[in-house]
Amino acid sequence: MNKKTVRDLSDAQLRGKRALVRVDFNVPLDERGQITDDTRIRAAIPTLRYLLDRGARVVVLSHLGRPKGKPEAKYSLAPVATRLGELLGGNVTFVESTDSDQALKATNDAKPGEVVLLENTRFLGGEEKNDERLSRALAMLGDVYVNDAFGAAHRAHSSTEGVARVLHPAVAGLLMEKELDYLGRALSSPEHPFVAIMGGSKISGKIDVIESLLPKVDKMLIGGAMACTFFRAMGLETGKSLVEADKVDLAATLSKRGGDKLVLPVDALVAPSMDEGAKAHVVKRDAIPAGEAMFDVGPETTKLFTQHIMSAKTVLWNGPMGVFEKPPFDAGTKAMAQALAAATKKGATTIVGGGDSAAAVAEAGLESAMSHVSTGGGASLEFLEGKTLPGVAALDDK
Ligand code: 3PG
Repeated sequence: MNKKTVRDLSDAQLRGKRALVRVDFNVPLDERGQITDDTRIRAAIPTLRYLLDRGARVVVLSHLGRPKGKPEAKYSLAPVATRLGELLGGNVTFVESTDSDQALKATNDAKPGEVVLLENTRFLGGEEKNDERLSRALAMLGDVYVNDAFGAAHRAHSSTEGVARVLHPAVAGLLMEKELDYLGRALSSPEHPFVAIMGGSKISGKIDVIESLLPKVDKMLIGGAMACTFFRAMGLETGKSLVEADKVDLAATLSKRGGDKLVLPVDALVAPSMDEGAKAHVVKRDAIPAGEAMFDVGPETTKLFTQHIMSAKTVLWNGPMGVFEKPPFDAGTKAMAQALAAATKKGATTIVGGGDSAAAVAEAGLESAMSHVSTGGGASLEFLEGKTLPGVAALDDK
């Protein structure tokens, strides 16, 4: 990586210093405010420990949800502070403000080895506007800046981008480094055969990734409802399946460009509606009944996709194969998670993009069976599209 990381900081740059660390603690909460998945908090622990072990005073910034520039109780980071304290096995001081004298005082009062978590950066009107005054105020809260928020690196906000223009050194954390290493290597120097699996409901959100990856991969497996837009481009009947009518021409162009690199499902699990799983049945892809829709890939497809995955040296997966939240339409997605786990065992590098596919891998209990599961949904997509992530670009060059 061409950006400095925490490892490039000397002990003198950390001991007794305030390390201002931007993390992505945008975790899901239930109605009672309980964290339902703490993956993102756990993923930031190595960086926080690295800094604490070197005697830094750690000041943590994060967003949570999408409050519109003002405080909203349901988006408070208070529950996160509790969980972070449990994971670190020590006290975390939570400060209910961020751009305030109280916050500044808390950072100055913190002792080496202590952690201060400040309230949601998106409670501040200037955050999403990347307001310069706010960036300067945030820069006052630390002596060094560490960005470990890969999941928010595609946002040019004050706490992810603006502050790094003001406060130096500005370096990547260990999670950020790991994400950029895995995803970056897949783009720049993947071991071949390189197989990408694309899923999800719509092509529209994935066009740029498909276009960016197509020249680099040996095979691109297409699943999810997105496959139906390709079916339509082939002139097949798709029944009530979700088809993006305005993307059929594009699917035809991509199919032509992809040639035999592009592998589409050969069969489908169909039903009259998503809520009628009991009536689900398997059909060949050219026999989708007029009154039914495809909600998952079929067993022949999972067999075919698994064969491609097992012959790969690098596998990149983005997007579920079907409606994985609703059995029986979860079978294709589960099979992909299992195939990736088996490929990892065989020595392949397996990378799971964030968002739905990461959730499916977690659901299957197979997170640790993958080489890397990204913590970034939108960020990993933008990175794979070949876009520059502003939160990364702003960090110090090596
Ligand atoms: C995410 O969950 O993808 C990141 O935390 C970014 O959140 P955002 O889409 O609200 O900017």
